[in-house]
Amino acid sequence: MDYASYAKEKAASIIKSGNATVLAIETSCDETAAAVVKNGRTVISNIIHSQIPIHQKYGGVVPELASRSHTERIRPVTDEALSKAGLTLKNIDAVAVTFGPGLVGALLTGVSYAKGLALAGKLPLVGINHIHGHIAANYLSCAGLEPPFVCLVVSGGHSHIVLVRDYLDLELLGKTRDDAAGEAFDKVARVLGLGYPGGPKLESLALSGDPHAFDFHSPFNSGDHPDFSFSGPKTAVINLLHKAKQKGETVNFADIAASFQLSVVKVLCAKTVRAAKLSKVSLVALAGGVSANKLLRSTMLEMSESEGMKFCCPEFEYCTDNAAMIGSAGFYALMSGRLHGLELNADANPGLK
Ligand code: KG4
Ligand code: ZN
Repeated sequence: MDYASYAKEKAASIIKSGNATVLAIETSCDETAAAVVKNGRTVISNIIHSQIPIHQKYGGVVPELASRSHTERIRPVTDEALSKAGLTLKNIDAVAVTFGPGLVGALLTGVSYAKGLALAGKLPLVGINHIHGHIAANYLSCAGLEPPFVCLVVSGGHSHIVLVRDYLDLELLGKTRDDAAGEAFDKVARVLGLGYPGGPKLESLALSGDPHAFDFHSPFNSGDHPDFSFSGPKTAVINLLHKAKQKGETVNFADIAASFQLSVVKVLCAKTVRAAKLSKVSLVALAGGVSANKLLRSTMLEMSESEGMKFCCPEFEYCTDNAAMIGSAGFYALMSGRLHGLELNADANPGLK
């Protein structure tokens, strides 16, 4: 029997049983990650190799260096995920891999390796959209969570408000018109001299600052529409620093960090809770690297509860890029028969599909 027929047959028997142990791979940006996840909810192993030390001296991710490092680390990271789980490929039911969005060279490493594993193990292969993966991180952390809900996906590349009607039925309700929230955190951190990755560093500095010292509010964000702009608040910070320098004045960087963080968090939460109300759903979730931000988590909890809504967010380890979330999304895709063959390709910008 050829690979495609074998994989189809295996997938049919998995769907019938309702159980699957998925080996998942994620290489969309600067983390090489592999995980083993059972039935979309239980993480058996979760290995992440971060490339932060490689990119730190350049102040951001260098795509070519990212691809090279993924090529070196993909095998040891995957082997470690299997060995930590006490399993071999023979115990795995399917392979899931991020196919996009992301850096195309980085994505290709994971997609090619996953295809090789699927072929060698005669296993079904499921390509997963990175954004679906981030949303699925909530299924790992919130027991019993089921759609429908509204999820704010905030990462280095995206700021999306998504209506999750069902596990695979997503609708984009709102998005940024310019910079992503994480990108704005990173750029402001850079002008404050905090380095890469900026988000967590800016959050730490903000702890000692006054969040009401400056108003970085952007008029665009006041509108009733569900979209964001983060380029406005970012430019306001840059202008403030520029003017202070021209006048020879000093500005308190911690106050800038705290005020910028508050302005971004306020608009993210207000627009997400409003979108949930308009969509008539009673649960709000968070996803993506920026969802590790403590002020964002606490403000979203407060605002959703004050509207009588439930709130869910991934544990810290599942907020930033990881493969466990891909294993969860992979389970639901597999169970609905959404398989990919060996023709699966990386796609730097697939939208929400
Ligand atoms: O989801 P992720 O790991 O990678 C992408 O898919 O982009 O998100 C990374 C982004 C970066 O912009 C990083 O600065 C931001 O998430 N981030 C944070 C925090 N932790 C990570 N932003 C604000 N506060 C944090 N604690
Ligand atoms: Zn991500």
